[in-house]
Amino acid sequence: MNRIYRFLVLPLAVLAAAEASGQQAPQLGEASLDKVVKAMTLEEKAMLVVGTGMESMASGSFAVVGQVAKYVPGAAGSTFGIERLGVPPMVLADGPAGLRISPTREGTDDTFYCTHFPIGTLLSSTWNTELVESVGKAIGEEVHDYGVDVLLGPALNIQRHPLCGRNFEYYSEDPLLTGKIAASYVRGVQSNGVGTSIKHFAVNNQETNRQNNDARVSERALREIYLKGFEITVKEADPWTIMSSYNLINGVPASENKDLLTTVLRDEWGYKGMVMTDWFGGTDPVQQVWAGNDLLEPGTMDQYNKVLEGVKNGSISMADLDRNVKNILNLALRTPRFRNEPFSNKPDLETHAEMTRQSALEGMVLLKNDNGTLPLRNVRNVALFGYTSYNFIAGGTGSGNVNRAYTVSLLDGLRNVGFNVDDRLEADYEKCRPAATDGIFDAEVRPAELLPAADVLADMAADNDVAVITLGRISGEFRDRSSDDFMITPSEKAMLDAVTAAFHKVGKKVVVILNIGGVIETASWKDVPDAILCAWQAGQEGGNSVADILSGKESPSGKLPMTFPVYLSDAASSDNFPIDQESAIFVDGTTGAHQDKNVRNIDYTEYQEGIYVGYRWFEKQGLNVSYPFGYGLSYTEFSYSDPVARPRAEGGFTASVTVTNTGDTAGKEVVEVYVAAPKGGLDKPVKELKAFAKTRELQPGESQTLEFEVSAYELASFDEAQDRWETAAGEYIVHFGSSSADIRAKAAFSNARPSAYAVTPGLFERK
Ligand code: BGC
Repeated sequence: MNRIYRFLVLPLAVLAAAEASGQQAPQLGEASLDKVVKAMTLEEKAMLVVGTGMESMASGSFAVVGQVAKYVPGAAGSTFGIERLGVPPMVLADGPAGLRISPTREGTDDTFYCTHFPIGTLLSSTWNTELVESVGKAIGEEVHDYGVDVLLGPALNIQRHPLCGRNFEYYSEDPLLTGKIAASYVRGVQSNGVGTSIKHFAVNNQETNRQNNDARVSERALREIYLKGFEITVKEADPWTIMSSYNLINGVPASENKDLLTTVLRDEWGYKGMVMTDWFGGTDPVQQVWAGNDLLEPGTMDQYNKVLEGVKNGSISMADLDRNVKNILNLALRTPRFRNEPFSNKPDLETHAEMTRQSALEGMVLLKNDNGTLPLRNVRNVALFGYTSYNFIAGGTGSGNVNRAYTVSLLDGLRNVGFNVDDRLEADYEKCRPAATDGIFDAEVRPAELLPAADVLADMAADNDVAVITLGRISGEFRDRSSDDFMITPSEKAMLDAVTAAFHKVGKKVVVILNIGGVIETASWKDVPDAILCAWQAGQEGGNSVADILSGKESPSGKLPMTFPVYLSDAASSDNFPIDQESAIFVDGTTGAHQDKNVRNIDYTEYQEGIYVGYRWFEKQGLNVSYPFGYGLSYTEFSYSDPVARPRAEGGFTASVTVTNTGDTAGKEVVEVYVAAPKGGLDKPVKELKAFAKTRELQPGESQTLEFEVSAYELASFDEAQDRWETAAGEYIVHFGSSSADIRAKAAFSNARPSAYAVTPGLFERK
């Protein structure tokens, strides 16, 4: 067992100043916070609001305040401890698909692997808040077991455009689903007595020039779409910390944005936790301290000096600095390090591997299943195609990647559940592993697909019962995906066509597995195979999880948390997104400011579509989509009956609907509740997701009644002219959907009284 309560060495000057301030120093946790703050020297306060720097900065080009943390190698950052006041240091580590630390350490042969759980997008595809909470709980156990205080996740920016490089970490194009899933994750992690950092607050919807991009967005879109998930998470789960984002919002960097970090977050939502910057985010510590960005991470000497200077020259008020210091001390009081808790460095990786395998099943989305192709009943011999089948992708790249001990390929997964996989192409596929990356932030380059010779394919079709083809995509931090990455590549299409022709010729079926982190084009090729399973990036046990679904161990019950459009250009934001642009980001923390400062979609991005993101847009425009929001098939069928909606006396409504499994296998169904508001007044989407629930596993013939409750505030839309949320009076239609495009039952209720909720006027005006 390690004892973790040790302190970083403060610079001598700081210690000397502290000593001069007296001996009987009040101790954090014993004396009041006011007393502790009062006893702090200015230098100590400045140290506390600036992180210790990153490990990689120690011998690098950065001047670092004090000594770099060595508590948990590979952690992204830490804060200074102040021993004389009993203030512990804190260790912060990524997030969000599992804990990210170094798997090896100097001086020991022990390993420090973490479990790579499914990516955020897969978790939201489960639409199962309890399951997400249990995944969060397991992740939080590893955070605690490795002596980390705060996990830098979950990431909950809106999936505004299909090509955002970090969509895999994010949850959905819809803010309600985002908020409910994020809140569950936070509750789960924090049930271990460790913290989370919900990120990136806010409007961080593109990687291209993310440190300098100005998101120009209306207050209505901010409040209804981009802030809503954060609001739900703050109010329902009390995340210990929040990470401000890199980008600007209407001209003001998020970390310097008082409207965002103080007025909305604290005054309106009542947030009591701590706010930190994203790594090297923002440029002006004076503005950051003033705005309510408590901690600057990872921390540089320059920032420390600027905070000192700021106080001395009066541009930073002591009251603001003290407020931020208190928020950090309050966080410290909650941490395992403050409690001096021992940690094992030995998480239960075996149990967690089982958990990630199982949890991934519920987030897999069955997109197509002609003539009951899946599950593979009476199938023994499988022909496996596509490089990715042999080299499954566990998750995305960058800080969202997890240093895991292994990744189960689909090849191994199929063999593990007893399929006999044809080994004819195995050596060829193994030879062509994706090219190595030149750094953790670079997505690997996948080779062109192998096209087996016609006679080989014919033999394989003769000898096997089914063909399984995986199409893989990997993306990550620092770069948005390209339009080519969205499309099926020519070599993939050639493989799909050739394999399908050979297998169909002898009456055998073809299944496509999508091992992807974000939306790809499906409309042009989805008619070719017999079945398509979107498995996302399902964590380190991915191959086993897919094999469990293919073998029919469990019916898929995931539903898409975003729309799959027919064409990329159909997405509402396609004119206002940096498609195929240079990323303009420098990994070393310097900013990638453009010379020109005025390039559309790079230096600034107009959120012209307003609130019409995702299905809100496709429905308004009446556009055909390839797969709609909320879509996903099952191995069984469900019917919906007895839809009811009733107004509540205090506003809002309650609703219920009964779901019956009418098929012949057990399965779970997600019911999505969309509400259409009365006409007149504010411009409204056709309908909006206001609630959802998932049944338990229903046996054939079994029913379950699901109940929903939605408050008047949750029904409200934002009126910019009046600076308030408004719930109109009139008739509301409640749609019970198996997807946004497959409404199975409806009910109406009448809202007799309109209601309104005022907010602070004049926020987020463009600077
Ligand atoms: C990412 C954050 C991450 C941080 C620390 C940044 O580049 O945007 O999501 O938590 O690095 O690794």
